[in-house]
Amino acid sequence: MKSVLVTGGAGFIGSHVVRRFVKEYPDYQIFNLDALTYAGNLENLRDIEGAPNYTFVKGDITDAIFIDELFTKYRFEGVVHLAAESHVDRSITDPLAFAKTNILGTMILLNAFKNSWEGNWEGKRFYHVSTDEVYGSLGEDGLFTETTAYDPNSPYSASKASSDHFVRAYGETYGLPYVLTNCSNNYGPNHFPEKLIPLFINNIINHKPLPVYGDGNYTRDWLYVIDHARAIDLVFHNGVNAETYNIGGFNEWKNIDLVKLLCAIMDKKLDREAGSSEQLITYVKDRPGHDLRYAIDATKINKELGWEPSVTFEEGLDATVDWFLNNKSWLEHVTSGSYREYYDKQYNSELE
Ligand code: NAD
Ligand code: TYD
Repeated sequence: MKSVLVTGGAGFIGSHVVRRFVKEYPDYQIFNLDALTYAGNLENLRDIEGAPNYTFVKGDITDAIFIDELFTKYRFEGVVHLAAESHVDRSITDPLAFAKTNILGTMILLNAFKNSWEGNWEGKRFYHVSTDEVYGSLGEDGLFTETTAYDPNSPYSASKASSDHFVRAYGETYGLPYVLTNCSNNYGPNHFPEKLIPLFINNIINHKPLPVYGDGNYTRDWLYVIDHARAIDLVFHNGVNAETYNIGGFNEWKNIDLVKLLCAIMDKKLDREAGSSEQLITYVKDRPGHDLRYAIDATKINKELGWEPSVTFEEGLDATVDWFLNNKSWLEHVTSGSYREYYDKQYNSELE
């Protein structure tokens, strides 16, 4: 039986990856290692927690002694590494936390993987899940390809860029077998409501202002999380060693256009008068260092591995809104307690 460690499996993308691997590969033993920070939530995995090939381990990737012991005990042949601090706004207020988890945590995992196999790399793989934000910001034209130079602008993207470099360095220096993907913005079920789409869904439900940063003319390239999980499965199994793949759906939206589409979908679903949610849009102070535009060229993964998104943005967004409306208790649980403090600190002076 193959032993596979998924880190950050209680988070947004990680929970979809864990579910997919547990269901698709009954002959693998899937371990989900997660520190259960504010972003980690075992409710995301209730449907598979009793599966015989699934084990949850609570632990911190920055705890080197604990991680070394875990790798010695379970001899993971594969690692899919998603655990990270993931929100740009939080990285602006607490950059050191991002350096610790995203850089040091990744190095500790690489080191433990290296030490547990001592060069016996046959059949082993370390998969590092990264972001398109490492490439910095595009102007009005062009797309990020796998050869675009790294040029990160936020503490979040700088920490992810640094972790990507360490993964490559372990590959070059120790022969550690790895694959790396840089994906565009995800959306979908279980998305934590600090990020644009789930935050605005939650605020629309509760008739609260929709805080659009700056003039709203920033552009992101959106991918349904289930399509990302499918891409991760494909690259984990079929990706070429030491290669990078960009993942994205050729689906660019200016924030303000996306927010207006979301408002229209929600007016219909909530049976509210057309145009009523749009009135909640409130322009607020811009994010410092705000990247203008991200857009992925996903030609390589399409041509070499045959991956493409399975849903259009309209379908994915519709399904996402349905999920949030049908899982109000999930939303209520994650927006109680420390979430309220975060929200007040991040937005209240802007929205008063
Ligand atoms: P998330 O914030 O929803 O989840 C992160 C998970 O990691 C949480 O469960 C958290 O508890 C866990 N975690 C945090 N620190 C930890 C630590 N020190 N030890 C163990 N576990 C820890 O993030 P996400 O949006 O699911 O992103 C997952 C990965 O995908 C990240 O590496 C992120 O950089 C990358 N990524 C995200 C996006 C996106 O749009 N969300 C796009 C591309 C790449
Ligand atoms: P976000 O979901 O935080 O993802 P990222 O910054 O990693 O791309 O933000 C997506 C876009 O939406 C980004 O341009 C910032 C903007 N945004 C707002 O306008 N208001 C908000 O409250 C948030 C959270 C984001």
